[in-house]
Parts: sequence; C-alpha cells; structure tokens
Amino acid sequence: MTTAQPLVLITGATGFLGFLTLLELLRSGYRVRAAVRSEDKIDKIRTHPLVSALTSQSPAGEASLSFNVIPDLAAPGAFDWAVQGANYVIHLAAPVPSFSGAATVPPEQYEQYFVQDAVQAALGILKSSAETEEASVKRIILTSSAVAVIPFAYLGASPEVDYSVLFGPESRQPTRSGPFGSEIEAYSAGKTAVLNAVEEWVDSDAQLGERASFDIVSVLSGWTFGRDELVRSAEELRTKGTNSVLLGLLLGNKSEWPFNGNAVLAADVARVHVLSLNAPQAPSKSHSQTFVTSTPIVWEDAVEVVRSEFAADVEAGRLSVDGKQPTQPIHFDGSKTEKVLGIKFAPFHEAVRQVAGQYLELLDQA
Ligand SMILES: NC(=O)c1ccc[n+]([C@@H]2O[C@H](COP(=O)([O-])OP(=O)(O)OC[C@H]3O[C@@H](n4cnc5c(N)ncnc54)[C@H](OP(=O)(O)O)[C@@H]3O)[C@@H](O)[C@H]2O)c1
Repeated sequence: MTTAQPLVLITGATGFLGFLTLLELLRSGYRVRAAVRSEDKIDKIRTHPLVSALTSQSPAGEASLSFNVIPDLAAPGAFDWAVQGANYVIHLAAPVPSFSGAATVPPEQYEQYFVQDAVQAALGILKSSAETEEASVKRIILTSSAVAVIPFAYLGASPEVDYSVLFGPESRQPTRSGPFGSEIEAYSAGKTAVLNAVEEWVDSDAQLGERASFDIVSVLSGWTFGRDELVRSAEELRTKGTNSVLLGLLLGNKSEWPFNGNAVLAADVARVHVLSLNAPQAPSKSHSQTFVTSTPIVWEDAVEVVRSEFAADVEAGRLSVDGKQPTQPIHFDGSKTEKVLGIKFAPFHEAVRQVAGQYLELLDQA
C-alpha cells in the first residue's frame, strides 16, 4: 500500500461496531485515522492482535493507522484538524444507553448528552469537512439506527399504533425534545435529531451546501449482535452493550416486554459502512442517502439455536433454554441495501452462534 490509498477518518473505533469497521477498512486497504477521546485508547487499538496483524502485513506498516485525540466531539472546531486530508469520514461514535441497569447520566442530562451533544458532533464533522482547504472529503458515513425512523411508541406492544406500517430508508420522524422517560427514549430521540439535522444541513444550507464537496450516507441498523473483538471476559460480554441483551436470553432471562423484531450481524454492519464509501450517489439531487441494515427476527428463535447446537453446554448449565423474550414485529425494509451494495445479510442464527460461541470461549479461558 502507498500513501495514495484513500484516507478514512473514523470515530467510535474504540467500540463494538467501530472496531469491526476499523478492521474492515484495514482489510480493504484503506489508510485509517481514528479519532479517539483519550490518549489511553490509542494503545487499546494499536496493540490489539487483529490490528497489529493487519498493519504489519500492510506495505505502509504502522503508517496505515494513525490517531487523533479529540476529548469532546461536540466542542466547536473539534474536527478541524482530524478531517484535513481525509477522503472519507465514518462517524460511529455516539452516546449509547447502558444495558446493564447502571445509569449513564442522570435524567436531567439526557437532552444534553443523548441529543444536543450528538447533534453538535455530527454537524461539527460536516462543518469542518466543508471548510478543509483542499476539499478532500468526498463522503461522510453516519451511523444511525432503526430507532431514528421508527416512532418510539412502536418499540413495545402499543395498542395505539399500526404495526402494518412498513418503515424503510426513506422513513423519517420529527425531531423531538425532552423530558425523556428513559435512556433508550433519549437515545432514540438523539438518533432522530442527528439524522434530521445532517440532512437539513446538507440540503438546505445553500452556502455551505454548495461549497461542500461531499455527500452523506446514513446507515440505519436494527439490534446489532455478533462477535465483539474488544471484549476480554465472559462477564464483560454478559454485561456490556447490545450483545448482553441477546446473551441474557441465552442464559435464561425471562422478559414479558416485547422487543423490536429487527436485527443484523455486526460484521454485516461493518461491511455496509465500508461498502457505502463507494456506493453510487443518491439518484436524486439530494446530497444524502440512507441504507437500512436489518432483517426480521423472532427473538425466541435464539433459544432454539442453543437447544439444537449447544445441547452439551445446556446440559452443563453454561447456557439455558428457559429464556423468554416476546418479539414485536415491526416491518423494516433492508432490501435496497442488499440490492445496491450487493450484500446478503447473515441470518439471525449466525449472530446467536457467534455470541454464544464467544461467551463459551471466554468461559473456557477464565
Ligand atoms: N449496537 C447496536 O445494536 C446498534 C444498533 C444501531 C446503531 N448503533 C450505533 O452504532 C454506533 C456504535 O455503537 P456500539 O454498539 O458499537 O456501541 P459501543 O460499543 O458502546 O461504542 C460506542 C462508541 O462511541 C463512543 N462514545 C460513547 N459515548 C460517547 C459520547 N458521549 N460522545 C462521543 N462518543 C461516545 C465510545 O468511545 P469511548 O471508548 O471513548 O467511550 C465508543 O467508541 C453508535 O452510533 C450506535 O448508536 C448500534
């Protein structure tokens, strides 16, 4: 590889999906600049065996991966340096809700933390990219979510909503403000607010919009599960991030509250982010387009995968087939993504296998 390879600025590479995306970028031959929030995160990425293996194979060696520390992504001008010379930006970092029951921030801070800061960070990337002297940035990929375009009332069995509605890449919801009743509600509002704010910015800010050399792609994912290359213990997998929700079911958790029946394999989401860099431009005059990454799932199918493929571990009490998790089917269409990007989403059982398999592997190492 030479320095002529395109340079991708990525945020969120210290997280579950961001790290998988970073690996996919390196495997695909891109140079990567990772924006991290603190110095100590640099070593976490650089010394990871999967990263060292990829950078050592690359002709550019360690130069294929560089870092920029940005302590506060929402600060004005935070990305002014980071975007210089970058050809693409993939913005995965976001305030995410806790799945462990521990509060991320107090409720009075939900609006600032989950909504305002997330909007400022995304708009900051757009503004800094539009103001680079060489206009190097050609496309910005923004990691969004199904919850950005599916009204919050749908995420639970509500008698007041019409579950026959089909949501897809063109669906949008109005931006809403707090107070919010939970982290997940505030997170959902934040995802909606970011999606709306960036589309408004690229489409309606005539001056910057015309000067901008780039377009944007938003990636809307359902629940995302699969092997987490950053997790180091079975306990961490059981308590951290979205995998902990699926693993809870595989360990026998019983819930009465139905969950949205849309999910995707994490490795597929990472691939979609990287494939999106070269996706054809939006056919309309708009500077933005959206890819849905999701397939319909039935949560309790996960229990059947454990029953049929991990019988010995159920027998040994390491996994369970007693879990209960109702599914709320919500129609969410990812077919355009498969067609345009030429990808076939892995079925749910692959995500279940990966999460159960990694958990057992970590138990064995303990
Ligand atoms: N997992 C899913 O099911 C799912 C589904 C749809 C969309 N997404 C989206 O995918 C992206 C990555 O999620 P993930 O599941 O990989 O989560 P994750 O493992 O918790 O990673 C979150 C990443 O965002 C950074 N971050 C956390 N709080 C932040 C804040 N307040 N301001 C700026 N950066 C912050 C983290 O950096 P530090 O290491 O510095 O904390 C980390 O790099 C997010 O945009 C999320 O909304 C995830």
